[in-house]
Amino acid sequence: MRVTLTAIKADIGSIGGHIRPSASLLKEVERSLQPHLGSDFIDFRLSYTGDDIAILMTHTHGTDNPLIHQIAWDAFKAAADVAKKEGLYGAGQDLLKDAFSGNIRGLGPGIAEMEFEERKSEPFLLFAADKTDPGAFNLPLYLAFCDPMYCSGLLLSPNMFKGFKFEIMDVAYTEGDKVIALFAPEELYDIAALLRDPERYVIKAVYSRTTGEIAAVASTTRLHNIAGKYVGKDDPILLVRAQGSFPATGEILEPYALVPYVGGFMRGSHQGPLMPVKRNSSVSFFDGPPIVSCTAYCVKDGKLSEEADAFDHPFWDYVREIASKKAIELRRQGFYGNAMLPYGELEYGGIVERLKALEGKFEIRH
Ligand code: 13P
Ligand code: 13P
Ligand code: MG
Ligand code: MG
Ligand code: MG
Ligand code: MG
Repeated sequence: MRVTLTAIKADIGSIGGHIRPSASLLKEVERSLQPHLGSDFIDFRLSYTGDDIAILMTHTHGTDNPLIHQIAWDAFKAAADVAKKEGLYGAGQDLLKDAFSGNIRGLGPGIAEMEFEERKSEPFLLFAADKTDPGAFNLPLYLAFCDPMYCSGLLLSPNMFKGFKFEIMDVAYTEGDKVIALFAPEELYDIAALLRDPERYVIKAVYSRTTGEIAAVASTTRLHNIAGKYVGKDDPILLVRAQGSFPATGEILEPYALVPYVGGFMRGSHQGPLMPVKRNSSVSFFDGPPIVSCTAYCVKDGKLSEEADAFDHPFWDYVREIASKKAIELRRQGFYGNAMLPYGELEYGGIVERLKALEGKFEIRH
């Protein structure tokens, strides 16, 4: 059957700063979603990653469906009210607009959706990150879909020999979606030239060139573009289909062992290693480090299987140790140089006033 996966995440308030949502918030989201289940809205699952709640929905309405978006928006709104009553920090933080007008895009929550004909077996992964921005998925997706050093299927599996199409978005553009399509392997260097700048260019979707089918889709919300000021980090989500003409699950996961430095961390203004964590993990050290969770599912007739926590394994304990070491190492240099993000990212925050005041005190000497 044709099914749509809709993953929507929002920070609607958290305990003790930006740590994690309370159990009552998750309960309220569930309470709000439950009555809408039926033959068209088939199934859903909830999880949190740091202070962001992710709703995964399966349905038959296709992408950008007003009804599905409304159900999710209302659930977040209801839970934000609970967060306000509980006095949680940043209650309703990612719900930047008051009125819903048919689509959740542009209102604050991050969204990743894909519609496809279910395969005989349909394994897929839901990644959710906190204390970082959508560019955090650039390198892991590039390596999993383009690089035979990571994706052995590019050499071993004939249904991947043709490579993949990348849709990359220029997230500095705010008048609409500015997207380029590039093809791996022949345009690898062009793809890399864009992806090297993760605050500006972000992978929106990946497609198989063998079947034309959608392989991956990520949220591309830049909150400061919507709010015009710093209102927390974007904290993206990503859906990836696995196996068959797509990389194997383990090939999609492998790049996360790199723990690349990404933008985010404290006040969304620093660089930190992206630590792969178990589902429903909080953040801690310096409001971080940036974290990413991964839940694996199969979907059949729209019904979700039991979930498997992809980073809940002894191997990733070792990787988490490496991430901790990388975090401590970079934090030793505090505000200096690469430890903090460049001005282009900071200009949505308070440092603008400080620098403006200093500008007036400069004198030109010849
Ligand atoms: P199994 O024999 O465990 O199913 O492994 C198959 C495989 O191809 C793993 O990538
Ligand atoms: P969040 O976007 O996760 O709320 O992070 C905000 C922040 O400033 C953390 O220090
Ligand atoms: Mg928060
Ligand atoms: Mg967050
Ligand atoms: Mg955030
Ligand atoms: Mg097997």
